[in-house]
Amino acid sequence: MTLDQLRKKIERKDARLAVIGLGYVGLPVACMFAEKGFDVLGIEILPERVAKINAGVSPIEGEEPGLKSLLAKVTSQGYLRASSDYQNLNDRDVILIDVETPVDENNIPGYNALRAVLRNLGPVLQVGSLVVVESTIAPGTIHNVVKPLLEEGSGRKLNEGFYLGNCPERVMPGKLLVNLRTMSRVVGGMTPETAETMVLLYRHIVQADLDPTDSVTAELVKTAENAYRDVQIAFANEVALICQAVGGDVWKVRQLVNKSPFRQMHLPGAGVGGHCIPKDPWLLAYGVQQATHLRAADQQEVPLRLIPAARAVNDSMPHNIANLLQDALHSVGRELAGARILVLGYAYLEDSDDTRNSPSEALVERLKKMKAEVVIHDPYVPEYQSEVDRRSVEQLARNADAAVLMTAHSQYKKLDLNRLKNLLRTPVFIDGRGLFSAAQLKQAGWTYRIIGVSVQE
Ligand SMILES: NC(=O)c1ccc[n+]([C@@H]2O[C@H](COP(=O)([O-])OP(=O)(O)OC[C@H]3O[C@@H](n4cnc5c(N)ncnc54)[C@H](O)[C@@H]3O)[C@@H](O)[C@H]2O)c1
Repeated sequence: MTLDQLRKKIERKDARLAVIGLGYVGLPVACMFAEKGFDVLGIEILPERVAKINAGVSPIEGEEPGLKSLLAKVTSQGYLRASSDYQNLNDRDVILIDVETPVDENNIPGYNALRAVLRNLGPVLQVGSLVVVESTIAPGTIHNVVKPLLEEGSGRKLNEGFYLGNCPERVMPGKLLVNLRTMSRVVGGMTPETAETMVLLYRHIVQADLDPTDSVTAELVKTAENAYRDVQIAFANEVALICQAVGGDVWKVRQLVNKSPFRQMHLPGAGVGGHCIPKDPWLLAYGVQQATHLRAADQQEVPLRLIPAARAVNDSMPHNIANLLQDALHSVGRELAGARILVLGYAYLEDSDDTRNSPSEALVERLKKMKAEVVIHDPYVPEYQSEVDRRSVEQLARNADAAVLMTAHSQYKKLDLNRLKNLLRTPVFIDGRGLFSAAQLKQAGWTYRIIGVSVQE
């Protein structure tokens, strides 16, 4: 099949699509193309996920407006089906890849999932099909990893036997469908013609700009936009720590800083989590390592200072929460060792069930090391729903020595601070998200600490 023929199929919605990896990104993408009338096959390695999806039941637990009903609709109408069998891919014209791309303990991407996908996909790749990596990848990965593995597995040459591109996703859990529909996309093709073909494809589901470019630019844009966010958050977090030390209130400071033109200080908090912001800056940095062979021998190394520093600041924030907690407990004559601590929120993001790289995990680990007893509440995370028998915050608060708010779930915004205070053994509240004001906590009679706010007792 030529690109021209593929374009016509895409325009007519005759192109048969596949989405490999039906997680937070792949599942809504598959649903949206299916909604537009494309025949979509989802390939997913987890059999229980495949079964759920084929039954029209979403495996995503958090508040995800529209996804549950859309999935039920497109599966019952037969536009989307899921399978674990790669053989089913042999009639697909377009294959989108949406698997996870984590970094290891040395901040290096192993691409285990991506490599496994490519090794399985190569032998069943149809002649003239288009492969698009939507996963976030380090600059140079399409060229250095994806292209060689696909050429080897398929026995065909890029741009002769298949076409290849990179169209990174910009979604956030909690807004998956609306983000997909309304956010602009960078569409990186290995040739300009491939990029134009990808634009035709995405035009079916995206109502915003589709910017065609080359694949390295697309890889750079995605990792740079998330590294930018990480650096900005780290700045806000560092100012929060400064405010705590010098008698300030970062929430007030931020509000006034942002009145100055061209300043947009981000929100500080108890830490950064999820599958994107904590690892995408490392992917951007890894791009430099991947490119080493491209540089002349006498060319200087790129000194990477800011990205690692921002990562270190953001990773330290759960420790700051532990310090605030220890300090507040001391002030009421209690030690952290032996204290019972109620952690409110285990997901990294409000109203989501996503716990990947959650700051709460780092906090809980630290508290346990310091011999505290920890109980966890999260309305969206199944482990903590079942572990606590779906008990309410109030039930868990009984006999606790402190409550630590780590996630700004809507449910916590409505907490009755007066009622809750009376349930704890010692009324200590640590607000890691600035959800409540000092006045509110003081009025309810708590001994409290708020991230970025100095103690005035
Ligand atoms: N989560 C987000 O908000 C978000 C936003 C933008 C970009 N991204 C990027 O999108 C990519 C996917 O992220 P995600 O959050 O959807 O991850 P995820 O873990 O939710 O989904 C990945 C899915 O792929 C499946 N999988 C793994 N190996 C497989 C294989 N060999 N064959 C078939 N399926 C396989 C997993 O079982 C899982 O269901 C990542 O690169 C991420 O950085 C994520």
